[in-house]
Amino acid sequence: MIGVAWPYANGPRHIGHAAGANVPADVFARYQRLAGRNVLMVSGSDMHGTPITFVADQRGTTPRAVAEENHAIIADAFRRLGCSFDLYTTTLTENHYRVTQDMFLRLLERDFLFEQTAIAAFDPEAERFLPDRYIEGVCPHCGYRAARGDQCDNCGRTLDPFDLIEPRSRLSGATPIPRETTHYFLDLPKFSEPLTAWVESKKSVWRPNVGAFVLNWLREGLKPRAITRDLDWGVPVPVEGYEGKRIYVWFDAVIGYLSASIEWAERQGDPDAWKAWWDAEQDVDTIRSYYFIGKDNIPFHALIWPAMLLGYGGLELPFDVPANEFLTVGGQKISSSRSHTTDQLPWLHEALDLFDADALRYFLTINAPENRDTDFSWDEFLRRNNDELVATYGNAVHRVLRFIGARLDGIVPQPGELRDEDRDMLAQVDASFERAGDRLEKVRLRDGLTEAMALAHRLNRYLDVSEPWKRIKDDPERAHTSLWVSVQVIAALRTLTAPFLPFSAAKVHMYLGETSAFEALEWRPVEIPAGRTLGETAPLFRKLDDEELAALLDRLNPETMSAGEPEK
Ligand code: MF3
Ligand code: ZN
Repeated sequence: MIGVAWPYANGPRHIGHAAGANVPADVFARYQRLAGRNVLMVSGSDMHGTPITFVADQRGTTPRAVAEENHAIIADAFRRLGCSFDLYTTTLTENHYRVTQDMFLRLLERDFLFEQTAIAAFDPEAERFLPDRYIEGVCPHCGYRAARGDQCDNCGRTLDPFDLIEPRSRLSGATPIPRETTHYFLDLPKFSEPLTAWVESKKSVWRPNVGAFVLNWLREGLKPRAITRDLDWGVPVPVEGYEGKRIYVWFDAVIGYLSASIEWAERQGDPDAWKAWWDAEQDVDTIRSYYFIGKDNIPFHALIWPAMLLGYGGLELPFDVPANEFLTVGGQKISSSRSHTTDQLPWLHEALDLFDADALRYFLTINAPENRDTDFSWDEFLRRNNDELVATYGNAVHRVLRFIGARLDGIVPQPGELRDEDRDMLAQVDASFERAGDRLEKVRLRDGLTEAMALAHRLNRYLDVSEPWKRIKDDPERAHTSLWVSVQVIAALRTLTAPFLPFSAAKVHMYLGETSAFEALEWRPVEIPAGRTLGETAPLFRKLDDEELAALLDRLNPETMSAGEPEK
């Protein structure tokens, strides 16, 4: 089961979201399918919550309209990026509402929820409670005039709405007044012991950053979390007296993994099929659930969602939560929920208008923020595209296949007699499958891609030495041998790159004259027989130069450039 973080539909997503969640999840899913596992990969747009009502209020439209418009943009961008979801849905489905309410009621019945009354900020003019981000005022620490109710963007301190000097409602301008309100809380302290034991057992699996973060939270002590809100946008609370309230967006969003799996099964016409990935009663170790997220989502996936699953009972807990650090621009955080401004970063759908999906997938994987923040820069994008994708991998493939097309009528020659250097080259193929497979199993995707690229590099060196283009004249048999070997390496590269660069891998598959479906490939070397007629070939990737890049970027409308997203 591969869960991919559900993006807020409060705007389009920038490439940081794809770098942290979608690309790694898709690489991993494609690898797992090649390795013969039964994969279910689900996600969807997170349609609720104040990030969306806020945009709707600003534009004078409904949250539903905002969410649906952005969902269409986001879903289309993920499709163009090549994300092979089994289902990409939304949290607005009837099924999701039902599954969420069922989870709520079960936790309530099992005594994991309790009610508590607290003071909250109320707008007397708009006559509604104000989420923190709807309140603005002067920061008591630094005097910044546009500090928000949850935090000051100037000094970075977290705030309480009533800390603000001269607080005002961003809806009506009125001064918020304190008013009592009652909410449901998830009784997290009840899960402290089982969660601690579970997290300890994960130490050897989880990335160090994730384990350290979670253990720290546990050490500080879990606190109950409010899971309802004074809002009219969200999943209704299935309890009398809560008609004006809704379930907190985070509580319903994480349930999306389960509800989407159920929706997928129903669409398959096999309503119980989801259980293969969720029913914890099955033989131990047959299910592995992976959640691909950005680091700001760690608490909800590595503690709160597991607590909910434990409370519900019988459902499989995460096996791994491979959270990524952030992609930054000029050292500035772009992948967080904090607002940011940059005039350099396109939205994902805009980037896909300009560049091939594989070029983006390559850069976002080879530069993936797996263990530390990594920087996005156009120079680096250009360099890696040209030097690695085009010059190392693309050229090797194209040179060999085009030469066979031009000089040997496109027919794979006989291997003839192999020499040591040929056997060495072929031994590298086996080693690459083994090493890249090992890295991918451990969700070290960047290392997996590095292994695949190392093989492309080796092929170039092999070609430099064996020079079939010259030998074809003075020693045709030698040329045939090295071309045959090269074709075998290219076939291996096709499979090794398939998780990362699915579009170009599918092309190589065709160029190799394969008749079996690309989707039926398996993670192992396969021989391309001598005598096989290759397909038509063409360059795999586009080289970019500075001017062309500048012209491409000019096409981006500065108005629509990523200007950050509002606070959660
Ligand atoms: N919408 C949240 C965010 O963008 C992520 C939710 S992941 C979920 O930060 F799975 F919990 F939905
Ligand atoms: Zn401040």
